[in-house]
Amino acid sequence: MIEPTTTARPQAPTAVFDWLDEAAELRARAGLTRTLRSRPADDPVLDLASNDYLGLTRHPAVTEAAAAAARRWGGGATGSRLVTGTTALHTELEVELADFYGVEAALVFSSGYAANLAALTALTDPDTLIVSDAYNHASLIDGCRLARAQVHRAPHADPAAVARALAERAEPRALVVSDTVFSVDGNAAPLAELSAAARSGGAALLVDDAHGLGVLGPGGRGALVGAGLAGEPDTVATATLSKSLGAQGGAVLGPRRVIRHLVESARTFIFDTGLAPASVGAALGALRLLRAEPERAARAREVAALLAERLTAAGLHASTPDAAVVSVRAPGPEQALAWAADCRTAGLAVGCFRPPSVPDGYSRLRLTARADLTDAQISLAVATLARTAPRP
Ligand SMILES: Cc1ncc(COP(=O)(O)O)c(C=O)c1O
Repeated sequence: MIEPTTTARPQAPTAVFDWLDEAAELRARAGLTRTLRSRPADDPVLDLASNDYLGLTRHPAVTEAAAAAARRWGGGATGSRLVTGTTALHTELEVELADFYGVEAALVFSSGYAANLAALTALTDPDTLIVSDAYNHASLIDGCRLARAQVHRAPHADPAAVARALAERAEPRALVVSDTVFSVDGNAAPLAELSAAARSGGAALLVDDAHGLGVLGPGGRGALVGAGLAGEPDTVATATLSKSLGAQGGAVLGPRRVIRHLVESARTFIFDTGLAPASVGAALGALRLLRAEPERAARAREVAALLAERLTAAGLHASTPDAAVVSVRAPGPEQALAWAADCRTAGLAVGCFRPPSVPDGYSRLRLTARADLTDAQISLAVATLARTAPRP
C-alpha cells in the first residue's frame, strides 16, 4: 500500500485533504491509478471481464424473476432482516440454496463481502486462532481484521503449514479459512487436505465458494459438494449471488446452529438492510435455471480450459484453470494496464489486477470463461490478447 509522507498539520480547511492528492500522485507514479468507466447497456465489446460465469445475468428467466419480485415486494427490502427485511422470497431462496448446496441451512446477506465479514466475526472470539491462506480474497482478510481473534497468515495452499499452525496454537478454538477458487489465478484450494488438517487440529473450516458455486461440483453445486465435504458438521461455506447466479447478494451455508448464531449475532446481518427483492428473485431464477440446465457448469470449465490452452499455444503465460477464471501474466502494473486498454480498443474487455489487489510483482490480466462463449469468440479473444501483448 502506498502511504503519503506528509507529516505537517494542515493549517486551513482547504488543506485538510491535501494528503489525498499526494497519495493519488504516488499511485499514479506507481501505475496504480484506478478510474470508473460507465458501461452502456449495449456495449459491443466481447466481455471476458465480468463474473457472469454462466451467462445468466441477462437471461430472460433471471430478469423476469427480478422484475416480478420488484413488482410484488417493492424496490427495497424496507428494513433489516430481523425487522421487516425478510420477505417470503428471502426464505424461499435460503431453503433452495441450502438444498442445492447440500447443507442444513443458508442465510442470505446483502453481499458476499458482508457474508464473509459475518462468518469471520461471529464464528471467532479472542480465544480463537484464525489460520488464513495468504492469497485469500480481500473480504476474508477484512473479516480477519474485524474479528477479535488471533490471526495466522498461512502460506498459500499449504495444508501442512496449516496443520503446524493449528498444532502449535495456545487458543482452544481455531478456524481455517480459504477461498475455494482463488479469484485472480483461478486455482483451486486443496480442500480435502485442508479439511483433514482442520479436523485433526480440532478446528472448523470456513471456505469462500464465490468462484466455485455454479462452476464446480456436479451441476455447479459448488466446491464443497465436489470435494465430498458439503453438510459436514465442522464446515461452513460463504458464497456470492453476484457471479454464477448473475444477481447480487451473498450467503453463508452450513450447519443449522451456525446459521442460528449468525442471525443472533452477526453485525453485518443485523445492522444491514435486507437484500433487495429484485436481487433475491434474480438469484432464485438463476438457481432454478441451473438446476434445469446443469450442463452450463461443465461448459464454463470447458471454455476456461480451451482459453488457457490456446493462450499458452500463442506464447502467453496463462494459468491452469481449475474453474472459470484464467489469468495471463503481465510484466508489471503499467504494462498490464496498457495491455487491458489495448484489448478494449480492439473490442475485448478483460480484467486487470495490480497491487493492492495482488502482491507486488504479480500483475495479471484476468479472463473469465463464460459458459455462453462460442468457439469463434474464444479464438477472437486469444488472437486479440496475443496481438496486443507487451513486447518482452
Ligand atoms: C472470493 C470472493 N469472495 C467474496 C467476494 C465478494 O462478493 P460480493 O461482490 O457479493 O460482495 C468476491 C468478489 O466480489 C470474491 O471474489
